[in-house]
Amino acid sequence: MQSFYLISVLACLLPVALGDDPSVAWCYNEPTCNDTTWPRIATDFCNGTRQSPIDIVSASAVADSTLGAFTLAGFDDKTAFTKIENTGKTVKIELASGAMNVSGGSLPTDYSSLQFHLHWGNGSSVPGSEHTVDGKRYPMELHIVNAKTSLNGNLTEILADSEGLAALGFFIEVESGTTDQPASWKSLADHLRNITESGESVSITDISMNDLISGVDTTSYYRYLGSLTTPNCNEAVVWTVFKDTVKVSQNVIDLFSNTVRIGDSTSELVTNVFRNVQPLNGRQVSTTVASSATSLATTSLLALGLAALHGILHLG
Ligand SMILES: *[C@@H]1O[C@H](CO)[C@@H](O)[C@H](O)[C@H]1NC(C)=O
Ligand SMILES: *[C@@H]1O[C@H](CO)[C@@H](O)[C@H](O)[C@H]1NC(C)=O
Ligand SMILES: *[C@@H]1O[C@H](CO)[C@@H](O)[C@H](O)[C@H]1NC(C)=O
Ligand SMILES: *[C@@H]1O[C@H](CO)[C@@H](O)[C@H](O)[C@H]1NC(C)=O
Ligand SMILES: *[C@@H]1O[C@H](CO)[C@@H](O)[C@H](O)[C@H]1NC(C)=O
Ligand SMILES: *[C@@H]1O[C@H](CO)[C@@H](O)[C@H](O)[C@H]1NC(C)=O
Ligand SMILES: [Zn+2]
Repeated sequence: MQSFYLISVLACLLPVALGDDPSVAWCYNEPTCNDTTWPRIATDFCNGTRQSPIDIVSASAVADSTLGAFTLAGFDDKTAFTKIENTGKTVKIELASGAMNVSGGSLPTDYSSLQFHLHWGNGSSVPGSEHTVDGKRYPMELHIVNAKTSLNGNLTEILADSEGLAALGFFIEVESGTTDQPASWKSLADHLRNITESGESVSITDISMNDLISGVDTTSYYRYLGSLTTPNCNEAVVWTVFKDTVKVSQNVIDLFSNTVRIGDSTSELVTNVFRNVQPLNGRQVSTTVASSATSLATTSLLALGLAALHGILHLG
């Protein structure tokens, strides 16, 4: 009961820390207020040394065969999503308390999923992912935000912990030659016309997380330590960025930058809602090892072992 209460409190409080309604006013695209001014308005963290997002240089990523598979509990649950909200800076989907958990994936402990949200540019032609790979920016990026289960929803402790949050990032790419695909994404985007103004929300049912990330091999990813990508940019995030992309029709991607507004019905559309990439400052990005390479290595080792055994038997 107590932990249920705390998780409920967290679900209400964490979006504050994640930038929807922070202690400081912040923006993406105003001439006098954009991500270059965040270090002045949120001095505690936005000028830190392990900030996110980053450009992932694939050739510099260190292969780490210990980066294992995730256990994604509740990702098939079509009742996990509760509501979809226009925050004026993103579209956020809240998750029922305890409905989705993330563990494994070489994370230090178990995490409870709180919400997911999206970053985009201006239609499919002006990409707006936050992370880039070898300088390439994708049309959109989906972030699932998860907090250490053991911290029982205590926001102070979560943000003070260098691994208090585990964020899962998925790139969205255009699937050319299709319309309204996949059905899960069309259904998600169809809610946007009900939340055109900032602060509006509607309930959302009948889509699971796995419906939205279908086709992504979750055993293939990059890993590094970073921060929230919105003020106050707290350096409390273990980042996972998946290599596979989610393929979505251009017309569905375009709905995000065409439909929701930063304020009331007369305000601008929500566009280019991503932070620019931040310096690595010597941080290491790790990468999973391709499973074919792993099995190849295992096979070679096995072959070597058999050869050795063969040799021993002959010697004997
Ligand atoms: C971002 O803000 C800075 C400081 O006010 C300003 O110099 C710059 O032109 C702004 N950039 C954009 C793209 O508006
Ligand atoms: C960030 O700014 C604050 C306030 O100006 C300062 O105390 C802190 O040392 C700065 N941090 C870095 C990493 O520059
Ligand atoms: C998620 O973890 C919580 C806390 O351990 C547990 O109560 C809940 O049943 C888990 N949910 C799923 C879908 O495994
Ligand atoms: C977004 O693109 C549309 C048309 O493609 C254009 O009219 C609009 O000015 C663009 N918005 C921004 C903020 O660049
Ligand atoms: C959260 O943790 C802090 C620091 O340990 C503590 O002072 C505070 O009382 C806790 N808050 C709640 C709601 O339990
Ligand atoms: C969304 O808006 C449409 C009209 O555009 C309306 O028919 C529908 O009932 C609304 N759905 C919700 C959940 O509010
Ligand atoms: Zn995000």
